[in-house]
Amino acid sequence: MTPLKLEHALSCANDSESCVAAIAQYFESHPLHYGHGTDNATDEAYWLVRAVQGWDDGRYSARPDAAMRQRIVEVARARVEQRRPLAYLLGEAWFAGLRFVVDDRVLVPRSPLAELIESQYAPWCRLEPGDRMLDIGTGSGCIAIASAVHCPGVVVDATDNSQGALALAAQNVAAVVPDGHLTLLEADLFAPGRGPYRLVVSNPPYVPTARVAELPEEYRHEPVAGLDGGVDGLAAVRRLLSLAPSYLEPGGMLVVEVGEAQEAFAAAYPSLPVTWLEFAHGGEGVFVVSREQLTGHSSS
Ligand SMILES: C[S@@+](CC[C@H](N)C(=O)[O-])C[C@H]1O[C@@H](n2cnc3c(N)ncnc32)[C@H](O)[C@@H]1O
Repeated sequence: MTPLKLEHALSCANDSESCVAAIAQYFESHPLHYGHGTDNATDEAYWLVRAVQGWDDGRYSARPDAAMRQRIVEVARARVEQRRPLAYLLGEAWFAGLRFVVDDRVLVPRSPLAELIESQYAPWCRLEPGDRMLDIGTGSGCIAIASAVHCPGVVVDATDNSQGALALAAQNVAAVVPDGHLTLLEADLFAPGRGPYRLVVSNPPYVPTARVAELPEEYRHEPVAGLDGGVDGLAAVRRLLSLAPSYLEPGGMLVVEVGEAQEAFAAAYPSLPVTWLEFAHGGEGVFVVSREQLTGHSSS
């Protein structure tokens, strides 16, 4: 399907739902990869229409006007021709029910950890107001900010070693939790002198270096430092595991996403009694382990 045909289909559409169907058909006629906040063409088409309409329910029930249709074609065309994630083209991503500003300084938020955050980390960690938690490799700030929103009163630190990411995360903090207890810190994993934490959570880079180049085109628009986890994907994870006990309080918990490096992790840490989490909305490769389990096991 050509952009011209999409334009024609949109001009014939009487409502937003018909627009969504036409855009989905356009997306489906091209070899796109979905993995940056949606997993199919229809959801991306819906996201595009709603975002162009400013997420205004009233506008969704009305027929998109000519200016909106033109903007939709522009963005849809860029999605197909540049293979850029829709989140970057729209400048927004949704995570744990919250809207985040994103650009190519940060990975597009998509971690299954959103589900755990929405359940306030239960049953793995019981966070009370005043408890401290740390998000390592915060990127857009999505995990730290969503935690601050869903676990009110918790004092959140968030680190990243990318100044670009921290600048963007600061925008999101200002927009979503302007008076929250959230501190952004430039650090290599942990910020010395901070803590101890009741909870440390991280979605570090974990794609094995050789696999990064094989990822679909869409991932090439993301910062490689957010993806590349070294030879076996565990470079950051290994350091994180060895440092975590010094930053966790007694009874504290560590939650780490290792995604596709799960098998490599199990081979590297056969005696570490981690629990792999299951998610109702999909996603895998996230484990939880306590400070005591970390200090008690024989390291690999
Ligand atoms: C997979 S991204 C996760 C971003 C965000 N937490 C999310 O879930 O969308 C990993 C992040 O870790 C950061 N990072 C990589 N190595 C780091 C290090 N040694 N110390 C701190 N942050 C690091 C990257 O800059 C990137 O923002």
